[in-house]
Amino acid sequence: MKVPGRMTARRLIRWKKKARKISVLTCYDFTMARLLDRARVPVILVGDSLGQVVLGYDSTLPVTLDEMILHTRAVARAKPWGMIVTDMPFLTFQVSAEKALEAAGRIVAEGRCDAVKIEGGERSVPAIRRIVEAGIPVMGHLGLTPQSILALGGYRVQGRKKAEREVLKRDAERLQDGGCFAIVLEAIPATLAGEITAMLKIPTIGIGAGPLCDGQVLVLHDMLGLFTEFEPRFVRRFMEGAVLVEKALREYVEAVEKGRFPGPEHSFEIDD
Ligand code: KIV
Repeated sequence: MKVPGRMTARRLIRWKKKARKISVLTCYDFTMARLLDRARVPVILVGDSLGQVVLGYDSTLPVTLDEMILHTRAVARAKPWGMIVTDMPFLTFQVSAEKALEAAGRIVAEGRCDAVKIEGGERSVPAIRRIVEAGIPVMGHLGLTPQSILALGGYRVQGRKKAEREVLKRDAERLQDGGCFAIVLEAIPATLAGEITAMLKIPTIGIGAGPLCDGQVLVLHDMLGLFTEFEPRFVRRFMEGAVLVEKALREYVEAVEKGRFPGPEHSFEIDD
């Protein structure tokens, strides 16, 4: 029997043709990457949501290229079967296509990932083309693009108005023509996501974009219930992580304070 190798951009496009749904989760470290691999998650996104859920920033804007590379490398050391896609952080692809290629090259060469993700529509196409021409697969990202939060005026649903919907559909086509192998659709109406999905040959990966996309992505800390600062409507908690972790931590403190930990089974003897 032929054992399929690691997940690739080309295989994801074949999954769309076969109507096989694609699950994507974010990940930022080695231990969790091992767990995602055990669960056979096909696409692991080292998202710049790293800034909020791991580094404690109030948005994704302060995340640096070096931070993305550090965390990508940690994920890559788990050698997962799933494809690793890393976000290009703010201002690494907006200045020029050449600068974008340099940054994407560092992410792939130093971070050891399989692809990069770039936010934005038509304006991001020159950078996307340059990176794809150099042999690096690119995932697009449309709708609510968190790196444009200052211009968008907040984390709100995009594409409710007809004119916005037309722009988003045109942008999706431009990204496909520019060489993207998949597009994240964030916080847009479900019917619009369905139309874009039907229009494209490449897979769409929804987050707050309803059930008609080819795949879904969630931030790991949200779906595990670990990050509870705010909870967008599109998140489903598959575990109450914060409650479970806090309970274990309290039990540890109590065990130490009451002398119930460590026990003899955790202690070493002398030899003579
Ligand atoms: O940074 C991130 O986690 C993302 C996902 C929300 C798609 O871009």
